[in-house]
Order: sequence, then structure tokens, then C-alpha cells
Amino acid sequence: MWQKAFKSEEIPLGGARCFQEGDAVPVGIFRTRDGLFAVDNRCPHYDAELHLGEVEDGVVYCPWHRWPFRLKTGHCTLNHRFDTQTFPVKEEDGHIWVDPEGGKTTPRE
Ligand code: FES
Repeated sequence: MWQKAFKSEEIPLGGARCFQEGDAVPVGIFRTRDGLFAVDNRCPHYDAELHLGEVEDGVVYCPWHRWPFRLKTGHCTLNHRFDTQTFPVKEEDGHIWVDPEGGKTTPRE
């Protein structure tokens, strides 16, 4: 179910925030030149918060040990065993919406 996460201006270009409601998965939402992306915010290594990582060329680097995750697919570019989930995200009516129940793992080609 879509949930209103943030006002649009709360995530400017290059910005990222974490959205979590209740027991749902915390979702990291990122705005890059290529648009909005949402991934499971818990790094599969030791649970660091990915929204605090650096983003470069569509890849977020975990702030703790720099494991790289492709924002579009959730693929860990270091090791496919650590691929993570992505979530539906959209911008509408001046807000950013996310579906924390809609997580999916993108299959490798
Ligand atoms: S906690 Fe993310 S790479 Fe170690």
C-alpha cells in the first residue's frame, strides 16, 4: 500500500532519507539525476543505514564498509549473494510516496 513518506523538498537532488512505519522494513529513498529510488535501508552485511552512504553513478556505498548496491536493481556489485530489495516509489502532489510492502528482488540476467 502506498504511503506518503516525505514532502518533495525534503529529499533534494543528491539527498536521501529513511522511511519506516511501525514494524515495516525501513526503506531508504534516494533522489539522483536519474530519479527517485527506494531500497531496503538495512545493509545485508551489518545493518548499517544505506541512506547515509555516498551515491555515485547510481550506486550507493554502505557508510560502514562501502559495499556497493545499485539503486535501480538492489544488486550488490561486489557479490550477488548480498543483493537487496527495491521498493515502488513515486512523486505526486508535492510528496514522495513509497510502498514498503512492495519489496522485490530483481533477478540477475
Ligand atoms: S555494514 Fe554495510 S558493508 Fe558492512
